[in-house]
Amino acid sequence: MDSIAAIGISRSGTVDATARIGRALAETIFSGMIFANDKLGSQLVRTVIQPGENRMSEAEAFVRAMAAFASGVTIVTTGRAGHRRGLTATAVCSLSADQPSLLVCVNRKASAHDVLVNERYFAVNVLTKAHREIAVMFSSSAPECRVGRFAKGEWGILETGAPALLSAAAVFDCELDRIIDGFSHSILIGLVRSTRLFSNPDDDALIWHGRRFRSVTDLVDPMHRSADGLPLGTAQTFAKSSG
Ligand SMILES: Cc1cc2nc3c(=O)[nH]c(=O)nc-3n(C[C@H](O)[C@H](O)[C@H](O)COP(=O)(O)O)c2cc1C
Repeated sequence: MDSIAAIGISRSGTVDATARIGRALAETIFSGMIFANDKLGSQLVRTVIQPGENRMSEAEAFVRAMAAFASGVTIVTTGRAGHRRGLTATAVCSLSADQPSLLVCVNRKASAHDVLVNERYFAVNVLTKAHREIAVMFSSSAPECRVGRFAKGEWGILETGAPALLSAAAVFDCELDRIIDGFSHSILIGLVRSTRLFSNPDDDALIWHGRRFRSVTDLVDPMHRSADGLPLGTAQTFAKSSG
């Protein structure tokens, strides 16, 4: 029953599983389904997304599948006062600790892209749950969001001069070392010149999962109320229980 293993169900995990079922069911309209009955007596659904099926493009299938990947959220910033730019970014990962470095993938169309490439320094500001609004501001191209980006939160600078969010969970202050062509994006490799831990490491990290901003507690505490105020798994539960 690989679908069981894939979902990793245990009796206590029913809530988590049913939440996935809810979401999976919603997507079955677009693809084939696999039903399985298991000794838990509940019906499981696992979707298989086939690009091209039901007019779904490869890119759409890719974006849908990426929604299953939970990632931390950062604001990547550059530029000096009056010329500061930034964007919300989840395509960020550490590269090496031997030579403290990380990489960020930035869309060439993002207004911060060319400034990042020309200024050759940037900061990666790791967000907590308290920064949900800032994450929205730096991810929306609406004019009012663009102009108001650095008006939210308290910003300082570290070594390179890149804007550092002083309430961020952590800030990596980087010098741009290399740019690699990544199709629609540029892969920027940064050498970390200084690192700051500003807030309590136990602070609730902001997460991007299922195309929504959530926090770690949202994800790990099944009875925790989701963004729409319902216990996680409630609104999305379609599973027929054996009870
Ligand atoms: C959760 C989330 C993560 C994102 N991650 C990235 C990313 O890693 N790289 C990127 O280029 N754009 C990413 N974006 C999109 C940019 O944030 C957005 O296109 C950019 O901020 C637009 O800014 P602009 O209007 O100044 O061009 C992400 C958006 C969201 C909502």
